[in-house]
Amino acid sequence: MSGIVFFKSRKLAGLREFYQNKVGCEVWLQQEDCIIMRHGNFLFGFCQRDEADTGGIITFFFDHKDEVDQAYARHKEIAINKPSHSDKYRIYNFFARDPEGRIIEFQQFEHRVAHYLSGAELLLKRRSIREFTDEEVTDETIGQLLDNCRYAPTSMNSQSYYFKLIKDHRTIDWLSQTRGKSSSPIARGRLAVAICADPALSRRHVQDGCIAAYHFLLAAWSFGLGTCWIAAMDRDDVKEKLGIPVDHYVATVTPLGYPQDSFIKPPRKKDLSEFIVS
Ligand SMILES: Cc1cc2nc3c(=O)[nH]c(=O)nc-3n(C[C@H](O)[C@H](O)[C@H](O)COP(=O)(O)O)c2cc1C
Repeated sequence: MSGIVFFKSRKLAGLREFYQNKVGCEVWLQQEDCIIMRHGNFLFGFCQRDEADTGGIITFFFDHKDEVDQAYARHKEIAINKPSHSDKYRIYNFFARDPEGRIIEFQQFEHRVAHYLSGAELLLKRRSIREFTDEEVTDETIGQLLDNCRYAPTSMNSQSYYFKLIKDHRTIDWLSQTRGKSSSPIARGRLAVAICADPALSRRHVQDGCIAAYHFLLAAWSFGLGTCWIAAMDRDDVKEKLGIPVDHYVATVTPLGYPQDSFIKPPRKKDLSEFIVS
């Protein structure tokens, strides 16, 4: 489910050029006399008419203050003010005008906001997080997150995976020490989550568990929560400590918490052509 805000315009072609080339929006749909643009998961459209709607404000928001500064550097000549902090709204922003005089705003929220990422952004921006803030992850958020994970694919819809939440600090510390530096991020989360699968429910429980774990990583990121896949946790001592039956599979034990910095530069990734073999 989504939605679109439409504005009347007298300069459709100019607006398309501006929002596409200057603001970095994509053309989502071109109709006969209307054009719909996309910025992240924000859809907004313009329709060619005899008069233009120029009221209101079109706001584009970014994850990081630097992105607002970069937008300002690109839009200096149309900017109304320099980027600044607003104590009232707890945002960092500046205003500019589009070619029809509409006010547009570029901003970053300086506080946590509810999840909003588009599918593509979720895939591109998820990062392994190894440093977390002290902010509590509420049971309500964890509940919503796990609810979204119920739709992970499983062999023959066996739904053989399950999640074990670990909140006890001594257990978290113990887990973080099992594999030295590799497992150390576990200690830095607000809690840890073991993602497991039951062989009694599926012959493909290892695959089910791994897919569910990655589903969890992505779902967590959509809530602004960081995770880090910690490998080789399918160990007898880990299962004994967590009360997990020894024949069950532990896909990973991940820390969970709000990232200290959610704007992490991705590590080097291969070019698309290197992932495709003919
Ligand atoms: C199978 C697997 C095992 C991993 N094991 C560890 C680990 O033991 N410790 C750790 O800190 N990160 C671990 N990672 C995270 C990777 O280091 C990380 O995904 C990779 O560097 C790419 O970074 P990104 O996830 O931010 O794109 C693992 C990831 C995968 C998929």
